[in-house]
Amino acid sequence: MRNLNEHNITDAVVDRFKDTPNPRLKEIMNALVRHLHAFARETSLTEAEWMEGIKFLTATGQKCDDVRQEFILLSDTLGLSQLVVAQNHSRPVEATEQTVFGPFHIENPPAKKDGDDIALGAPGEPCLCVTQVVDQAGKPVPNAVVDVWQADAAGFYDVQDPTWNRDKMRLRAVFTADAKGELKFWTIKPAAYPIPTDGPVGAMLTATKRHAMRPGHIHFAVNKPGYDPLITHVFIDNDEYLDSDAVFGVRSSCIGNYVRHEAGVAPDGKNMSAPYHTLNYKFVLAPEIAQHAKAA
Ligand code: BEZ
Ligand code: FE
Repeated sequence: MRNLNEHNITDAVVDRFKDTPNPRLKEIMNALVRHLHAFARETSLTEAEWMEGIKFLTATGQKCDDVRQEFILLSDTLGLSQLVVAQNHSRPVEATEQTVFGPFHIENPPAKKDGDDIALGAPGEPCLCVTQVVDQAGKPVPNAVVDVWQADAAGFYDVQDPTWNRDKMRLRAVFTADAKGELKFWTIKPAAYPIPTDGPVGAMLTATKRHAMRPGHIHFAVNKPGYDPLITHVFIDNDEYLDSDAVFGVRSSCIGNYVRHEAGVAPDGKNMSAPYHTLNYKFVLAPEIAQHAKAA
């Protein structure tokens, strides 16, 4: 087809994908082309502006490496990550809600056991997390695998240290909850922190006068065969950023009750010489069927 103009080029491009053997890939490519073209039309995009966009996307890719994922950050700050999570995990009201995965998870974190301390000297006030994994009826789900990761009290994940290597992992671990679904561990109380702003996503936030803060939280991934895998956070209650999270990830069911205690004997019997916190939280898993039924 020749002489394509601003009115007929979209159909011509969509048509070029007509022989795509995978019907889902075809559907996605068709929608992508239509929406990209609609975006250019709606904004009357100029060539200079689109070149700026290409430079931005190029810089986003160039910022990525094994431990820095600027594209996830871009997806998160545009609300796309949370939209995709929300539309794939509509859950019964009783179940703990899903939220964004974020860019700071590491595969195969250190395996720890019940009662262990994952802070390993990281700055911050100690916090005993007492958790239980249950089903929607409140019945314990035994032996779920619980992956935990968080930033330190200064707002940094271990992997943000330029000298980081796998021997320097802290504030992250994988546990197996016990037969009653229970798991407790020591960490530090998390604090609000900014998402990384030293890349193109940071430049986008600055140019649009958006702040980069996330309310303090601990990340959890809870997995048990037969249940919908849960990827969530437990946020600090009363955090000033709960309603303006830079990545749109706050769900009410994910706000925890962090309680401060003076020095004394902690619920696990540990003698604390300084003030500490406790968090009691139940992870309510939805049955795996809920997600399958939606996908069907
Ligand atoms: C995080 O909570 O680790 C996070 C999530 C999205 C973007 C940046 C950080
Ligand atoms: Fe985080």
